[in-house]
Amino acid sequence: LNNEFKALNVFEYEGLARQKLSPETWAYIAAGAEDEVTLARNRASFERLTLRPNLLVDVERIDTSTTVLGQSVAAPILIAPMGQHAFACPDAEVATAAAASAANTVFVASISSSRSIEEITAAAGPVWFQMYLFFRDRGRSEVMIQRAQAAGCRAIVLTVDAPRWGRKERNMRTEDDLPWQIGNLAALPPGRYRYPDGAPATWADVEWLRTITGLPIVIKGILTAEDAALGADHGAQAVVVSNHGGRQLDGAVASIDALAEVVAAVDGRCEVYLDGGIRRGTDVLKSVALGARAVLVGRPILWGLAVNGSQGAAEILRLLQEELAYAMALSGRPTIRSIDRKLVR
Ligand SMILES: Cc1cc2nc3c(=O)[nH]c(=O)nc-3n(C[C@H](O)[C@H](O)[C@H](O)COP(=O)(O)O)c2cc1C
Repeated sequence: LNNEFKALNVFEYEGLARQKLSPETWAYIAAGAEDEVTLARNRASFERLTLRPNLLVDVERIDTSTTVLGQSVAAPILIAPMGQHAFACPDAEVATAAAASAANTVFVASISSSRSIEEITAAAGPVWFQMYLFFRDRGRSEVMIQRAQAAGCRAIVLTVDAPRWGRKERNMRTEDDLPWQIGNLAALPPGRYRYPDGAPATWADVEWLRTITGLPIVIKGILTAEDAALGADHGAQAVVVSNHGGRQLDGAVASIDALAEVVAAVDGRCEVYLDGGIRRGTDVLKSVALGARAVLVGRPILWGLAVNGSQGAAEILRLLQEELAYAMALSGRPTIRSIDRKLVR
């Protein structure tokens, strides 16, 4: 008889991961900025939203598939960019890329990955490259973009919410003890490495970015109608409504609470995604109902990696896809297209 504990949902993975990881690693992954008000708000705001299901609809067949930037995906659930997957599992982002491929979705690989972008794209599936404009020196950014492009990345995701790194106090005393390794900076000796103080880009940098790459540009970290409109004006093909998982400006609005104004402001000129606090299929359903084309999942992927490597990360995606299908059936929305604003109060 197999009495091994099998996690039934993302929260159970969180509990298992916490038991497995060192306190320093746990702090790095879990931390939010300062009092973690925004971190908590991301979840509280999802819980506050009420669903209005419609019944006696034919939900015999549920289709969760959709597209993002023209790319087919099994469900509107992508993997958010996060640094240092090696803290969670030895195969690091190579394992994550395989999980994304198994789940038929997109992996957004961070510039701060443990592995290089070439190793990650060699592993599998569609990969988008997330970067900061770190190096005030545009030449180094350009080299990185060319590498990502040559490696086969299909979009550049520019994270704009980190002109300085957030004060993640839970993690501040111990972060230097962690074995940081930045795969994209192979020229540096492995071991401890800290980035500069932040990534203070401006709209002028977005314009510059457009002149040096033909890849679609996704702007990540937007929380207001004004900035979303500027993003579309500057030619972004998508924006990600995000507060960086509560890791940057504490007190910032929950991403789900910022979604509707962003969707209204861009008015179909670009795609809108959301991340922050996605833990259940119903969170995906609510996000899509409020106008997100897709969501990105952050910490749960690292929990999956910590518990069971690539298979664990794939299982996180599978659970969320399955829960989404259940929620769609129970709310009378058999296709992604049929999920509309009226579903949420
Ligand atoms: C450990 C960790 C590392 C992260 N690293 C990055 C990063 O390198 N680049 C980036 O744009 N966002 C980064 N983020 C933010 C995520 O992309 C995403 O916005 C956030 O995790 C979503 O919230 P969730 O964790 O509640 O799902 C990181 C988040 C975590 C938890």
